[in-house]
Amino acid sequence: MEGALTARDKIGVQDFVLLDAYTSEAAFLDNLRKRFRENLIYTYIGTLLVSVNPYQELGIYTENQMGLYQGVNFFELPPHVYAIADNAYRLMCSELSNHFILISGESGAGKTEASKKILQYFAVTCPMTESLQIARDRLLLSNPVLEAFGNAKTLRNDNSSRFGKYMDIQFDFKGIPVGGHIISYLIEKSRVVHQNQGERNFHIFYQLLEGAKEELLAYLGLERDARLYKYLSQGHCAKELSINDKSDWDTVSNAFSVIDFTDEDLENLFGIIASVLHLGNVCFTESAHGCATIPDTHEIKWVAKLLGVPPSALLFALTHRKIETRTEEVICPLTTDLSIYARDAMAKAVYGRTFTWLVNKINSSLVNKDFTRKTVIGLLDIYGFEVFDKNGFEQFCINYCNEKLQQLLIERTLKAEQAEYEAEGIEWEPIQYFNNKVICDLVEERHRGIISILDEECIRPGPATDLSFLEKLEEKVGKHAHFQTRKLAGPKGRKGIGWMEFRLFHYAGEVTYCTKGFLEKNNDLLYRHLKEVLCWSKNLILQECFLVAELQNRRRPPTVGTQFKNSLSSLLEILISKEPSYIRCIKPNDGKEPSKFDYCLIKHQIKYLGLMEHLRVRRAGFAYRRKYEHFLQRYKSLCPDTWPQWQGPPAEGVERLIKYIGYKPEEYKLGRTKIFIRFPRTLFATEDAFEFSKHQLVARIQATYKGCLERRAYLEQKRAATTLEAYWRGALARKEAERRRSAVQTIRKFIKGFIHRGQPLSPDDEEFVVLVRKNYILNLRYHVPKDILDKSWLRPPGILEDTSDLLRRMCRRNLVRKYRQGLPPNKIAQMQQKVVMSDIFRGKKEGYTESLNQPFANSRLDGDDISPKVLQLICAEKIQYGIPVIKYDRTAFKPRPRQLILTQKAAYVVDLAKIKQRIEYSTLKGVSTSSLGDGIFVIHISPEDYRQKGDAILQCEHVFEAVTKLAMLANKENLVKVVQKSLQFYVSPAKGGTIVFNNGPEEQVYRDKIGRLIVVSDRLLAR
Ligand SMILES: Nc1ncnc2c1ncn2[C@@H]1O[C@H](COP(=O)(O)OP(=O)(O)O)[C@@H](O)[C@H]1O
Ligand SMILES: [Mg+2]
Repeated sequence: MEGALTARDKIGVQDFVLLDAYTSEAAFLDNLRKRFRENLIYTYIGTLLVSVNPYQELGIYTENQMGLYQGVNFFELPPHVYAIADNAYRLMCSELSNHFILISGESGAGKTEASKKILQYFAVTCPMTESLQIARDRLLLSNPVLEAFGNAKTLRNDNSSRFGKYMDIQFDFKGIPVGGHIISYLIEKSRVVHQNQGERNFHIFYQLLEGAKEELLAYLGLERDARLYKYLSQGHCAKELSINDKSDWDTVSNAFSVIDFTDEDLENLFGIIASVLHLGNVCFTESAHGCATIPDTHEIKWVAKLLGVPPSALLFALTHRKIETRTEEVICPLTTDLSIYARDAMAKAVYGRTFTWLVNKINSSLVNKDFTRKTVIGLLDIYGFEVFDKNGFEQFCINYCNEKLQQLLIERTLKAEQAEYEAEGIEWEPIQYFNNKVICDLVEERHRGIISILDEECIRPGPATDLSFLEKLEEKVGKHAHFQTRKLAGPKGRKGIGWMEFRLFHYAGEVTYCTKGFLEKNNDLLYRHLKEVLCWSKNLILQECFLVAELQNRRRPPTVGTQFKNSLSSLLEILISKEPSYIRCIKPNDGKEPSKFDYCLIKHQIKYLGLMEHLRVRRAGFAYRRKYEHFLQRYKSLCPDTWPQWQGPPAEGVERLIKYIGYKPEEYKLGRTKIFIRFPRTLFATEDAFEFSKHQLVARIQATYKGCLERRAYLEQKRAATTLEAYWRGALARKEAERRRSAVQTIRKFIKGFIHRGQPLSPDDEEFVVLVRKNYILNLRYHVPKDILDKSWLRPPGILEDTSDLLRRMCRRNLVRKYRQGLPPNKIAQMQQKVVMSDIFRGKKEGYTESLNQPFANSRLDGDDISPKVLQLICAEKIQYGIPVIKYDRTAFKPRPRQLILTQKAAYVVDLAKIKQRIEYSTLKGVSTSSLGDGIFVIHISPEDYRQKGDAILQCEHVFEAVTKLAMLANKENLVKVVQKSLQFYVSPAKGGTIVFNNGPEEQVYRDKIGRLIVVSDRLLAR
């Protein structure tokens, strides 16, 4: 119902109970039409399902749909035949109770389809074991067989069931369908011998002719043309486009093989079917005495062959009648009419009993041999109320049946309603309804009912006719309020009632029946003679159908009416012991057209189906009732006290809730376990409020849910982060611990090493030594001297002294090398000169050390200083060095300023523009200086050389430089002498002089008295 509430504004209401104008037929119709227009063919009245035949495939019977309805609360989903089936099934499983589903409606309203859908639903959705699959298949396949023999094309329905069917599906305790049982009612036997225009005989005849193999047809003596058979061609529509007899034959043949039919069974069965066709073609002519004869016995022979009876006996039985009196048997011939009657009666009897045999045969294959307890769901697919222009005995029986079923429904519904009020402790609400028991009694009451009167009329001696039957009725039930005849009605009411007719006021409306044929149909007489012939039949099926015992039984067999009454009462017994569900089928139009909604026709059916009546009963009390838990669960959001959870008992919660919403006292009643709401509008208002709050709720639930998801994700992340952190911290801590451990070990080793420092190196010292080395080397980087003159060096630890030394030397050498590589060539030459100077003078002459840091000049004379003339004179020789000197002459020692110029080959003493002396290096004998700080040097020349003027005594400021350059140019470094105190010089080998060197307070050069040259140098004036 909740589903219905939600959908109500969309397309009508899903449950008529929620219709405000529940007494209005127009509102009812309008709701049905609205829904039908949208292809919503199902609507509830409470738990009753109203179904309108859509006459088109709607795609609502898929396995998906079945799955949808499986195990879902009845009211949760839109109305469907599956919901009814599932509800019954679930109740059966949970309560181990028996159920039935009553499907009623006009021919063509969709009853049989509904019952098939239910059967399919069980076949697909119920649990199944492999061994029980066969039972399920048989249940499913019993349908095509029964339809072939019991269904026919009528004007209203191409596949109209011409019998009532009640089928029990048996389930074991696990809910598996394990077996079944079928009861059939009142097969329309008259169809075998007569069909109206546009209608056909039972399907099986046509299927046999269309589908059977040639051999079978030949065996049965049949031709493949239905038009050849009288029983098949009266309706003039043997070929029907919408029916595929050939493929139906295949289906039926397959079904036969599954439902345990042996070849012999089939042979007998088709023998009977064929014999009926042959029988139909038997013709009679009238003899001169007015007796019937059969001129052509061809067909008789076939019938006799197929039924296994003597042809002559059959022929005789068809044309004669045996009349038994108390003392004797009289055989009298029949007229043609009576023979035709006898022939048709035989065809009907044979077919009718064969049908019963067929049902029994199917039942024996459906029987479950396991005798454990079973629960059942019964499907009753039975003709609905029928009202035609002319209504006969069949309509009388059918409408009587519906009357009985209606009574069952009213009783059950009302009883249930009242039981509910009692159980809930609600004040008794009297429900107004029409109890049709009076009509049932009118029909069925013993001795006084219509059926009894009919039976009496049938067995009464004397001439009984339909009219005398009518008179009996007028006499015996004429005063009944629901009975009327033309005579009884008086002048006003007689309109529409014929002389042969009587009218019954059924619960669904009045129906006028014509009594014509009542007696004959009720008698359903098969002449004894024919019965005897059939009892002798060799056909095994007929042997079962026509028992010899029947012949011996002298009592009249019960009439059709009584049989029907009895079977109906046993059906009702079956139904009363079970829980009911109802499906009411409605045919929307007579043309089998989809989407056509014929108001008039449907209104008619609503009436005959008693739907308004049912709705009134449902609505007589309260429109809606629901268990407190469910009501509270659905609407608890409408009251702050009950939302989100009501802690107390649900009943109190509901009370609080409805007080909050503002229900008026007349609108509701509170039962023991349920709340009862009287008007739909109250419920709708609540539902609207709920709809409104649902959106807010949904948003809130969504938000909470999303929050929850986020929080869960966050916590997950947090946990992950914490785990990561823990691992990382652990890793760090372990690393730190490891570091400390090794630090401790190192420290321990160092301490040990320190304790044993004086002793030879132990393994403990290894690291210390490495460290010291490393530290020293690393430290040394910053203290390596950058300059060759920087003598500083980082003090090494004891163990590294050798290394340090080595490094220091390497460093110095490197610095020296670098220094040397950085020197220009002239500087190198100077250095070489200095080296030579060092060889000559080091430690020998004063002022040497001081002179060291005075670089040698390339020359102490500029080009300008030297006279061009001189330059011209010595131009051939390249001047290497020049310096101003003082020359002391060799006798008087007079000082004279001169220039000393050194070339590659010789040394020149130059006086301005004049070369005073040229001393070729080859003649140079040596050079002398004193060991004191004076600037005197003497160039010794070989005294023998006449060209020379003798040794030259010179003085200059840069004595080391000049002497060194001279010695080097002359390549006579080893000839330089540093003399102590005095030296000798020569002018010629015979003549020479002495120079004495002294230190004194003052620097002076002079000639002493004895002609020596005295050179006094001041020590402090060292050069
Ligand atoms: N639910 C349905 N969906 C589609 N077609 C249907 C449905 N019910 C009935 N019909 C159509 O209506 C025809 C008559 O239905 P059927 O059940 O034989 O009627 P009934 O048994 O009441 O006489 C079917 O042959 C089928 O074509
Ligand atoms: Mg049917």
